Amino acid sequence: MKKKIIAYNRVEKPVLEKLQQSYDARFFQNADTKHDPAFLTALREAEGIIGLDLPVDADLLAHAHKLKVISNVSVGYDNLDLDAMSRHGVMGTNTPGVLDDTVADAIFGILIAAARRIPELDQFVKNGKWQSAAIDNDHFGHNVHHKTLGIIGMGRIGKAIAKRGYFGFDMPILYHTRSPKPDAEEAFAAEYCSLETLLQESDFVCLMAPLTPETEGLIGKREFQLMKSSAIFINGSRGPTVIEQDLVDALKNNDITAAGLDVFSQEPVEPDHPLLNMTQVVTTPHIGSSTHETEEKMSELAAKNLESGLNGEKPVNLINPEAWKF
Ligand code: GLV
Ligand code: GLV
Repeated sequence: MKKKIIAYNRVEKPVLEKLQQSYDARFFQNADTKHDPAFLTALREAEGIIGLDLPVDADLLAHAHKLKVISNVSVGYDNLDLDAMSRHGVMGTNTPGVLDDTVADAIFGILIAAARRIPELDQFVKNGKWQSAAIDNDHFGHNVHHKTLGIIGMGRIGKAIAKRGYFGFDMPILYHTRSPKPDAEEAFAAEYCSLETLLQESDFVCLMAPLTPETEGLIGKREFQLMKSSAIFINGSRGPTVIEQDLVDALKNNDITAAGLDVFSQEPVEPDHPLLNMTQVVTTPHIGSSTHETEEKMSELAAKNLESGLNGEKPVNLINPEAWKF
C-alpha cells in the first residue's frame, strides 16, 4: 500500500505528479486545518506533509499519529511549532539556498519601485493624466545609487541583497544581525552596527530577519522615529516583525517617506487595510521567492526532504535535529 501524504497550498505540478506515483497524495488549498473533516481525516493517516504555510501546533499534531515529516516549500518556518514537533517526533524541513537570488531580485525591484514611485507613475500614465499635467517635482522620486542600504538580518538572502546594492548601485552597506558576518564585511564592505545606528543612518531600511519571538514587533513607533524622514522601509521577512499601525502612523506623519511590503500581518491583506490606500506604499502578495524557475526548485528540494523523512533517512534541510531519532 502506498504511504499517505498531504500536499498543502503550493507544490509545483510536475513535482506533485511525481510524488503521486509513489504516494497516495491528497491536495488541500487553504483548508481550515482545525475543522475541515476531509483534512482532519487525511491528517490522521498522513506520514508526511509537503507545502506552504500550514499552521502546525500541538493541536494539529494531536490528530497526526503517523506523521514523520513536515516539509515546508519555503525558507521561513514560523508556521511550525518546532518544540511541539520535536516532542511528537515529527521532523521539519525547509528550502534554503535555492531562492536567495530570486528573493533579492524581488526586494531590489520593490526598493527601486518605491524610490522611483514606479507603480504610482504607471497608474498616472495609464489613467491618461500625463496629457494634462506637467512632469514636475510632484512626480519625482529619489535616487537609489550611492544611498546607504541598511539590512536587518544578514543571512543568505540579506547577502544577495547586499551584493546587488554594493556592486550594482555603489551603496554603502550597514547591517545588523545576532552575530557579525565577516564574509559580508569582506565581500561588500558591509559594516556591522547596532539596530539604532542602522535605523538612524540608512536611506533604505531593509528587514530580512526571520520571524522569531525576538523579532516579533521588532520595528514599531520608536524605530520609525529613529529613521530619517527621507527613509524608505522595505519588509521582505514576515508581517508580524513590524507593528503595522505604527507603520501607517509613521507614513502619515512623514516620519519616513515610503514603504515597500511583500508581507503583511494577515495574508491575504484585507482590501480596506489603511496601508493599501497610500500611494507611497508599494506592495506585492508575498511573492519574493516565486518565479517559475525557483518555485520548481523549491518544490523539488522540499520533495527530496519529504522522501528522506518518509524513508527514515535524515533530511538534508532538517530544522529540528531533536526530532531525529534513528
Ligand atoms: C518565503 O517567504 C519563504 O519563506 O520561502
Ligand atoms: C535571510 O535573511 C536568510 O537567512 O536567508
